[in-house]
Amino acid sequence: MFKGIRLIDKLERERKLLAEEYLFMLHIRDAKTVQYLFERAREVRQIYYRKDVYIRGLIELTNYCRKNCFYCGIRASNKNIERYRLTQEEILACCHEGYDLGFRTFVLQGGEDMNYSDDKMVKIITAIKCQHPDCAVTLSIGERNYESYKKYKEAGADRFLLRHETSDALHYRQLHPQEMSSDERKQCLQNLKELGYQFGTGFMVGSPFQTPELLVKDLLFIQDMNPQMIGIGPFIPHHDTPFASEKAGSVELTLYLLAILRLMLPQALLPATTALGTLDEAGRERGILAGANVLMPNLSPLKVRKKYMIYDNKIATGLEAAESLKRLKENIAKIGYQIVETRGDYKN
Ligand code: 5AD
Ligand code: SF4
Repeated sequence: MFKGIRLIDKLERERKLLAEEYLFMLHIRDAKTVQYLFERAREVRQIYYRKDVYIRGLIELTNYCRKNCFYCGIRASNKNIERYRLTQEEILACCHEGYDLGFRTFVLQGGEDMNYSDDKMVKIITAIKCQHPDCAVTLSIGERNYESYKKYKEAGADRFLLRHETSDALHYRQLHPQEMSSDERKQCLQNLKELGYQFGTGFMVGSPFQTPELLVKDLLFIQDMNPQMIGIGPFIPHHDTPFASEKAGSVELTLYLLAILRLMLPQALLPATTALGTLDEAGRERGILAGANVLMPNLSPLKVRKKYMIYDNKIATGLEAAESLKRLKENIAKIGYQIVETRGDYKN
């Protein structure tokens, strides 16, 4: 136990640990250590972000995808789902509604759908930035080439989310089909970084074949990349995928890792993800209490929400955005934090 406390203090001070120290941290996890870790994480987030929680309006553009990740419900070869695409008008309508509710960041997320050509993406980004110049646009549309990322940046995109999924090449192979590679993924991240995006990466907790040693590699990868945003959430099986009968990741371990990440990157924008809220009704609030500072409520039109099912039982309350935001605000206030209506940029 004392060694755990000592390592937590070291991580807070130096913002990094050695591989064997992270491994030790992943192994102890007794109640006292966990409590101390969460306290330090809250304390550190307080320095830069006080009790503020940023919100991002999530707009799920399309559930078409050319890829076949073994874990994902909207993978190309799943024939049992109804596919959809939002038009530019529908996307702008979501932004309008979101803007009126106080959102100042919109996240355009989707499968890798080449129907959204570079021209089309540029038009969408330009239109959003023109109608809402005080808002940030975040893209989460997967792997594209350098030139494409450059065009989106020039059109006004501010941020980009692309989880590295696992930093180990072999583990990457176990989660993805042959034609995908960890190197390509990492190259995309390098490109985004070079282009000046605020970029985010991350991984699933408890994905099949994951070991503590592999998690340590992910932590070291993030330590090295120094991203502005980090998205982590538990793996949750989807019934129509090769991983249908694998077991879900742990909420407790996800919270523990969130707190470690907060100490490693004190200024990071760290969402309490929907996956966390799916496995535990209080998951997102618990995420905030472990050091997270971002929530990403769904702004997609109600008619498509149930179609963007990357894993089973994903929260799709059927509530209008306004109603679900109201409840979220109340729940966040109850734990002593407050949702703020700003862009919520990374603090240097
Ligand atoms: N469980 C949890 N997270 C998932 N993702 C995809 N499928 C699942 C699943 N079954 C995550 C991946 C991807 C992000 C959009 O969602 O990490 O990068
Ligand atoms: Fe497509 Fe992303 Fe799902 Fe992979 S995780 S199948 S790239 S939507």
